[in-house]
Amino acid sequence: MVIVLLKGTIILCLVYFILSKAQECPRKCICKKSNQGNGPDWKVRCGDRDKINSLEEVNLTSFHNEVVQLNLSNNYLNLFLPQVQLISLQKLDISRNHLTALVENQFIKVPNLRKLDVSENSIKYIHIQAFTGLKHLERLKINNNQVVTIMEGTFLPLKYLKQIDISNNPLNCDCDLLWMLDWIEEISIKLLSNPRCATPLMFKNKLLRKLRMGIDVNCIPSSSNRDMPVMELSPNYSQIVFEGDSLKLNCKAVSISNNYESEDRIEWLWANMNAKDYFENVLIEDDYYNDNGLCVVHSASIN
Ligand SMILES: *[C@@H]1O[C@H](CO)[C@@H](O)[C@H](O)[C@H]1NC(C)=O
Ligand SMILES: *[C@@H]1O[C@H](CO)[C@@H](O)[C@H](O)[C@H]1NC(C)=O
Ligand SMILES: *[C@@H]1O[C@H](CO)[C@@H](O)[C@H](O)[C@H]1NC(C)=O
Repeated sequence: MVIVLLKGTIILCLVYFILSKAQECPRKCICKKSNQGNGPDWKVRCGDRDKINSLEEVNLTSFHNEVVQLNLSNNYLNLFLPQVQLISLQKLDISRNHLTALVENQFIKVPNLRKLDVSENSIKYIHIQAFTGLKHLERLKINNNQVVTIMEGTFLPLKYLKQIDISNNPLNCDCDLLWMLDWIEEISIKLLSNPRCATPLMFKNKLLRKLRMGIDVNCIPSSSNRDMPVMELSPNYSQIVFEGDSLKLNCKAVSISNNYESEDRIEWLWANMNAKDYFENVLIEDDYYNDNGLCVVHSASIN
Protein backbone atom coordinates (compact mmCIF):
# COMPACT_ATOMS: atom_id res chain seq x y z
CA MET A 1 0.00 0.00 0.00
CA VAL A 2 2.81 2.38 0.95
CA ILE A 3 4.74 1.45 -2.20
CA VAL A 4 1.74 2.12 -4.47
CA LEU A 5 1.23 5.54 -2.88
CA LEU A 6 4.90 6.42 -3.44
CA LYS A 7 4.65 5.50 -7.12
CA GLY A 8 1.63 7.76 -7.46
CA THR A 9 3.56 10.65 -5.97
CA ILE A 10 6.44 10.16 -8.40
CA ILE A 11 4.11 10.09 -11.38
CA LEU A 12 2.29 13.17 -10.13
CA CYS A 13 5.57 14.97 -9.62
CA LEU A 14 6.75 14.11 -13.13
CA VAL A 15 3.51 15.34 -14.68
CA TYR A 16 3.74 18.54 -12.69
CA PHE A 17 7.37 19.06 -13.78
CA ILE A 18 6.54 18.65 -17.49
CA LEU A 19 3.55 20.97 -17.18
CA SER A 20 5.53 23.72 -15.50
CA LYS A 21 8.19 23.56 -18.23
CA ALA A 22 5.49 23.66 -20.89
CA GLN A 23 4.17 26.86 -19.36
CA GLU A 24 7.50 28.57 -19.82
CA CYS A 25 7.75 27.68 -23.48
CA PRO A 26 5.36 29.66 -25.69
CA ARG A 27 2.56 27.58 -27.16
CA LYS A 28 3.73 27.58 -30.77
CA CYS A 29 7.36 26.97 -29.87
CA ILE A 30 9.62 24.11 -28.94
CA CYS A 31 12.17 24.90 -26.26
CA LYS A 32 15.24 22.75 -25.86
CA LYS A 33 17.52 23.03 -22.88
CA SER A 34 21.24 22.42 -22.97
CA ASN A 35 23.60 22.82 -20.04
CA GLN A 36 26.76 24.23 -21.49
CA GLY A 37 27.82 27.37 -19.73
CA ASN A 38 27.11 28.35 -16.15
CA GLY A 39 23.32 28.23 -16.21
CA PRO A 40 20.84 26.55 -18.51
CA ASP A 41 20.79 27.57 -22.16
CA TRP A 42 17.60 27.44 -24.19
CA LYS A 43 17.22 26.96 -27.90
CA VAL A 44 13.80 28.07 -29.05
CA ARG A 45 12.19 27.23 -32.37
CA CYS A 46 8.73 28.60 -33.17
CA GLY A 47 6.18 28.00 -35.88
CA ASP A 48 6.86 24.49 -37.06
CA ARG A 49 3.25 23.35 -36.82
CA ASP A 50 1.37 26.54 -36.00
CA LYS A 51 2.66 29.72 -37.65
CA ILE A 52 3.51 32.83 -35.65
CA ASN A 53 1.72 35.99 -36.75
CA SER A 54 3.19 38.39 -34.25
CA LEU A 55 5.94 38.43 -31.67
CA GLU A 56 3.33 38.74 -28.92
CA GLU A 57 2.74 35.03 -29.38
CA VAL A 58 6.34 34.42 -28.34
CA ASN A 59 6.44 35.44 -24.69
CA LEU A 60 9.90 34.56 -23.47
CA THR A 61 9.66 36.59 -20.26
CA SER A 62 10.11 33.68 -17.87
CA PHE A 63 13.51 32.68 -19.26
CA HIS A 64 14.61 35.71 -21.20
CA ASN A 65 18.12 35.60 -19.71
CA GLU A 66 18.70 32.05 -20.86
CA VAL A 67 17.64 31.96 -24.50
CA VAL A 68 20.75 31.61 -26.69
CA GLN A 69 19.09 30.70 -29.98
CA LEU A 70 15.79 31.85 -31.36
CA ASN A 71 14.58 30.49 -34.64
CA LEU A 72 11.50 32.24 -36.04
CA SER A 73 12.18 31.26 -39.63
CA ASN A 74 9.24 30.57 -41.96
CA ASN A 75 6.48 32.46 -40.15
CA TYR A 76 4.26 35.49 -40.82
CA LEU A 77 6.10 38.16 -38.84
CA ASN A 78 6.09 41.64 -40.31
CA LEU A 79 7.79 43.19 -37.30
CA PHE A 80 10.51 42.08 -34.94
CA LEU A 81 10.46 44.18 -31.78
CA PRO A 82 10.78 41.96 -28.67
CA GLN A 83 9.17 43.23 -25.47
CA VAL A 84 11.89 41.91 -23.19
CA GLN A 85 15.65 42.12 -23.43
CA LEU A 86 17.08 38.79 -24.59
CA ILE A 87 20.50 39.33 -23.14
CA SER A 88 21.98 35.91 -23.93
CA LEU A 89 20.66 35.58 -27.45
CA GLN A 90 23.46 34.82 -29.89
CA LYS A 91 21.71 33.38 -32.92
CA LEU A 92 18.55 34.87 -34.36
CA ASP A 93 16.90 33.50 -37.48
CA ILE A 94 13.98 35.57 -38.83
CA SER A 95 14.40 34.45 -42.42
CA ARG A 96 11.36 33.66 -44.57
CA ASN A 97 8.95 36.03 -42.85
CA HIS A 98 7.10 39.16 -44.00
CA LEU A 99 9.46 41.90 -42.84
CA THR A 100 9.33 44.90 -45.19
CA ALA A 101 11.81 47.15 -43.41
CA LEU A 102 14.50 47.13 -40.79
CA VAL A 103 13.54 50.02 -38.53
CA GLU A 104 15.49 52.24 -36.17
CA ASN A 105 16.90 50.34 -33.16
CA GLN A 106 15.33 47.15 -34.46
CA PHE A 107 17.76 44.92 -32.55
CA ILE A 108 18.37 46.98 -29.43
CA LYS A 109 16.86 44.25 -27.19
CA VAL A 110 19.25 41.59 -28.49
CA PRO A 111 22.65 43.24 -27.94
CA ASN A 112 24.76 40.08 -27.89
CA LEU A 113 23.81 38.62 -31.25
CA ARG A 114 26.59 36.99 -33.19
CA LYS A 115 24.55 35.66 -36.07
CA LEU A 116 21.54 37.35 -37.64
CA ASP A 117 19.53 36.04 -40.56
CA VAL A 118 16.83 38.24 -42.11
CA SER A 119 17.08 36.69 -45.58
CA GLU A 120 14.05 35.84 -47.74
CA ASN A 121 11.78 38.58 -46.44
CA SER A 122 10.49 41.57 -48.43
CA ILE A 123 12.82 44.12 -46.88
CA LYS A 124 12.92 47.22 -49.00
CA TYR A 125 14.25 49.76 -46.58
CA ILE A 126 17.01 49.60 -43.96
CA HIS A 127 17.11 52.47 -41.49
CA ILE A 128 20.59 53.90 -41.01
CA GLN A 129 20.31 52.99 -37.31
CA ALA A 130 18.73 49.57 -37.75
CA PHE A 131 21.81 47.79 -36.40
CA THR A 132 22.51 50.08 -33.46
CA GLY A 133 23.91 48.18 -30.48
CA LEU A 134 24.90 45.00 -32.35
CA LYS A 135 28.55 45.34 -31.51
CA HIS A 136 29.22 41.60 -31.36
CA LEU A 137 27.59 40.62 -34.64
CA GLU A 138 29.82 38.48 -36.84
CA ARG A 139 27.50 37.14 -39.54
CA LEU A 140 24.69 38.96 -41.28
CA LYS A 141 22.37 37.64 -43.96
CA ILE A 142 20.14 40.12 -45.81
CA ASN A 143 20.06 38.20 -49.09
CA ASN A 144 16.87 37.60 -51.10
CA ASN A 145 15.05 40.77 -50.17
CA GLN A 146 14.03 43.95 -52.01
CA VAL A 147 16.87 46.17 -50.85
CA VAL A 148 17.75 48.85 -53.41
CA THR A 149 20.32 50.80 -51.45
CA ILE A 150 22.05 50.86 -48.07
CA MET A 151 23.06 54.17 -46.56
CA GLU A 152 26.65 54.85 -45.65
CA GLY A 153 27.07 54.37 -41.91
CA THR A 154 24.43 51.67 -41.60
CA PHE A 155 26.98 49.01 -40.69
CA LEU A 156 29.11 51.27 -38.50
CA PRO A 157 27.97 49.66 -35.19
CA LEU A 158 29.02 46.21 -36.44
CA LYS A 159 32.62 46.38 -35.29
CA TYR A 160 33.24 42.62 -35.45
CA LEU A 161 31.38 41.78 -38.62
CA LYS A 162 33.17 39.07 -40.58
CA GLN A 163 30.74 38.24 -43.35
CA ILE A 164 27.69 39.68 -44.99
CA ASP A 165 25.35 38.41 -47.69
CA ILE A 166 23.39 41.02 -49.66
CA SER A 167 22.97 38.94 -52.81
CA ASN A 168 19.66 38.66 -54.66
CA ASN A 169 18.51 42.18 -53.92
CA PRO A 170 17.67 44.73 -56.64
CA LEU A 171 20.76 46.80 -55.79
CA ASN A 172 21.11 50.20 -57.35
CA CYS A 173 24.85 50.52 -57.85
CA ASP A 174 25.19 54.27 -57.75
CA CYS A 175 27.26 56.47 -55.50
CA ASP A 176 24.79 56.06 -52.65
CA LEU A 177 25.71 52.37 -52.42
CA LEU A 178 29.26 52.17 -53.65
CA TRP A 179 30.78 53.29 -50.35
CA MET A 180 30.38 49.60 -49.56
CA LEU A 181 33.29 48.72 -51.83
CA ASP A 182 35.71 50.78 -49.76
CA TRP A 183 34.20 49.53 -46.53
CA ILE A 184 34.52 45.84 -47.48
CA GLU A 185 38.13 46.42 -48.44
CA GLU A 186 38.98 48.49 -45.41
CA ILE A 187 37.86 46.07 -42.71
CA SER A 188 38.15 42.91 -44.84
CA ILE A 189 34.56 41.78 -44.71
CA LYS A 190 33.71 38.65 -46.65
CA LEU A 191 31.04 39.55 -49.19
CA LEU A 192 29.15 36.31 -49.71
CA SER A 193 27.41 34.97 -52.82
CA ASN A 194 28.61 37.68 -55.21
CA PRO A 195 25.85 40.32 -55.17
CA ARG A 196 24.96 41.85 -58.53
CA CYS A 197 23.64 45.24 -59.53
CA ALA A 198 20.09 45.54 -60.85
CA THR A 199 20.33 49.20 -61.81
CA PRO A 200 21.50 51.53 -63.33
CA LEU A 201 21.05 49.99 -66.74
CA MET A 202 24.72 50.11 -67.63
CA PHE A 203 25.63 48.02 -64.59
CA LYS A 204 22.73 45.59 -64.78
CA ASN A 205 23.86 42.12 -63.68
CA LYS A 206 27.40 43.31 -63.10
CA LEU A 207 29.08 42.01 -59.97
CA LEU A 208 29.15 44.69 -57.31
CA ARG A 209 32.70 43.85 -56.29
CA LYS A 210 33.92 44.17 -59.89
CA LEU A 211 33.00 47.85 -60.15
CA ARG A 212 36.12 49.95 -60.03
CA MET A 213 35.89 53.23 -58.24
CA GLY A 214 37.41 56.03 -60.29
CA ILE A 215 37.27 53.92 -63.46
CA ASP A 216 33.73 52.63 -63.83
CA VAL A 217 32.32 55.04 -61.34
CA ASN A 218 33.22 58.49 -60.19
CA CYS A 219 31.52 59.62 -57.05
CA ILE A 220 31.57 63.09 -55.62
CA PRO A 221 33.82 63.07 -52.57
CA SER A 222 31.65 63.00 -49.48
CA SER A 223 33.28 66.23 -48.28
CA SER A 224 31.59 68.20 -51.04
CA ASN A 225 27.98 69.22 -50.90
CA ARG A 226 25.81 66.16 -51.52
CA ASP A 227 22.73 68.32 -52.07
CA MET A 228 23.99 69.49 -55.40
CA PRO A 229 25.45 67.00 -57.83
CA VAL A 230 28.18 68.01 -60.25
CA MET A 231 26.48 69.17 -63.42
CA GLU A 232 27.76 69.97 -66.84
CA LEU A 233 25.77 71.71 -69.50
CA SER A 234 26.86 71.56 -73.09
CA PRO A 235 27.09 73.78 -74.93
CA ASN A 236 27.70 75.90 -71.88
CA TYR A 237 27.19 79.32 -73.45
CA SER A 238 24.23 81.13 -74.98
CA GLN A 239 23.00 79.81 -78.29
CA ILE A 240 21.45 81.65 -81.16
CA VAL A 241 19.15 79.54 -83.29
CA PHE A 242 17.07 80.50 -86.29
CA GLU A 243 13.49 79.47 -86.58
CA GLY A 244 13.21 76.03 -88.10
CA ASP A 245 16.66 74.96 -86.93
CA SER A 246 17.04 72.50 -84.13
CA LEU A 247 19.21 72.74 -81.09
CA LYS A 248 20.35 70.03 -78.78
CA LEU A 249 21.34 70.75 -75.20
CA ASN A 250 22.90 68.18 -72.91
CA CYS A 251 22.89 68.26 -69.18
CA LYS A 252 25.08 65.71 -67.52
CA ALA A 253 24.86 65.06 -63.81
CA VAL A 254 27.37 62.74 -62.24
CA SER A 255 25.93 60.32 -59.68
CA ILE A 256 22.31 60.87 -60.50
CA SER A 257 20.56 57.65 -61.35
CA ASN A 258 17.26 56.78 -62.92
CA ASN A 259 16.00 55.11 -59.78
CA TYR A 260 12.33 55.99 -59.42
CA GLU A 261 12.63 56.37 -55.68
CA SER A 262 15.55 58.73 -55.87
CA GLU A 263 14.68 62.33 -55.15
CA ASP A 264 17.40 63.51 -57.48
CA ARG A 265 16.27 64.32 -60.97
CA ILE A 266 17.00 66.67 -63.78
CA GLU A 267 14.40 69.06 -65.11
CA TRP A 268 14.56 71.56 -67.93
CA LEU A 269 13.05 74.88 -66.99
CA TRP A 270 12.21 77.97 -69.00
CA ALA A 271 11.17 81.06 -67.06
CA ASN A 272 10.59 78.79 -64.03
CA MET A 273 8.19 76.65 -65.96
CA ASN A 274 8.66 73.17 -67.22
CA ALA A 275 10.17 73.68 -70.66
CA LYS A 276 7.77 71.15 -72.12
CA ASP A 277 4.79 73.25 -71.05
CA TYR A 278 6.32 76.34 -72.54
CA PHE A 279 7.47 75.06 -75.89
CA GLU A 280 5.56 72.76 -78.14
CA ASN A 281 8.49 71.09 -79.80
CA VAL A 282 10.77 70.16 -76.98
CA LEU A 283 11.89 66.61 -76.81
CA ILE A 284 13.49 65.49 -73.58
CA GLU A 285 15.33 62.23 -73.37
CA ASP A 286 17.39 60.73 -70.63
CA ASP A 287 20.10 58.30 -71.13
CA TYR A 288 22.80 56.60 -69.13
CA TYR A 289 26.16 57.45 -70.23
CA ASN A 290 29.43 55.99 -69.18
CA ASP A 291 31.95 58.72 -69.45
CA ASN A 292 34.25 57.46 -66.71
CA GLY A 293 31.42 58.17 -64.37
CA LEU A 294 27.98 57.21 -63.40
CA CYS A 295 25.71 59.81 -64.78
CA VAL A 296 22.51 60.49 -66.52
CA VAL A 297 22.41 62.71 -69.57
CA HIS A 298 19.27 64.62 -70.34
CA SER A 299 19.00 65.94 -73.83
CA ALA A 300 16.55 68.62 -74.69
CA SER A 301 15.98 69.11 -78.39
CA ILE A 302 14.08 72.11 -79.59
CA ASN A 303 12.76 71.75 -83.13
C1 LIG B 1 4.51 37.08 -20.42
O1 LIG B 1 4.65 36.12 -19.41
C2 LIG B 1 4.81 36.64 -18.10
C3 LIG B 1 4.96 35.50 -17.13
O2 LIG B 1 5.79 34.51 -17.62
C4 LIG B 1 3.65 37.53 -17.72
O3 LIG B 1 3.86 38.11 -16.47
C5 LIG B 1 3.46 38.63 -18.78
O4 LIG B 1 2.32 39.36 -18.50
C6 LIG B 1 3.37 38.02 -20.16
N1 LIG B 1 3.35 39.11 -21.15
C7 LIG B 1 2.44 39.19 -22.12
C8 LIG B 1 2.54 40.36 -23.01
O5 LIG B 1 1.58 38.34 -22.27
C1 LIG C 1 15.41 27.27 -38.19
O1 LIG C 1 14.45 26.29 -38.39
C2 LIG C 1 14.24 25.88 -39.73
C3 LIG C 1 13.07 24.92 -39.78
O2 LIG C 1 13.20 23.95 -38.82
C4 LIG C 1 15.54 25.29 -40.26
O3 LIG C 1 15.39 24.94 -41.61
C5 LIG C 1 16.66 26.31 -40.11
O4 LIG C 1 17.88 25.75 -40.52
C6 LIG C 1 16.78 26.77 -38.67
N1 LIG C 1 17.75 27.86 -38.59
C7 LIG C 1 18.86 27.77 -37.86
C8 LIG C 1 19.74 28.98 -37.85
O5 LIG C 1 19.17 26.78 -37.25
C1 LIG D 1 32.47 75.79 -70.86
O1 LIG D 1 33.09 74.60 -71.34
C2 LIG D 1 34.47 74.76 -71.66
C3 LIG D 1 34.94 73.45 -72.32
O2 LIG D 1 34.32 72.34 -71.79
C4 LIG D 1 35.23 75.11 -70.38
O3 LIG D 1 36.62 75.27 -70.68
C5 LIG D 1 34.66 76.38 -69.79
O4 LIG D 1 35.30 76.68 -68.57
C6 LIG D 1 33.18 76.29 -69.57
N1 LIG D 1 32.61 77.55 -69.15
C7 LIG D 1 31.83 77.68 -68.07
C8 LIG D 1 31.34 79.07 -67.80
O5 LIG D 1 31.51 76.72 -67.36
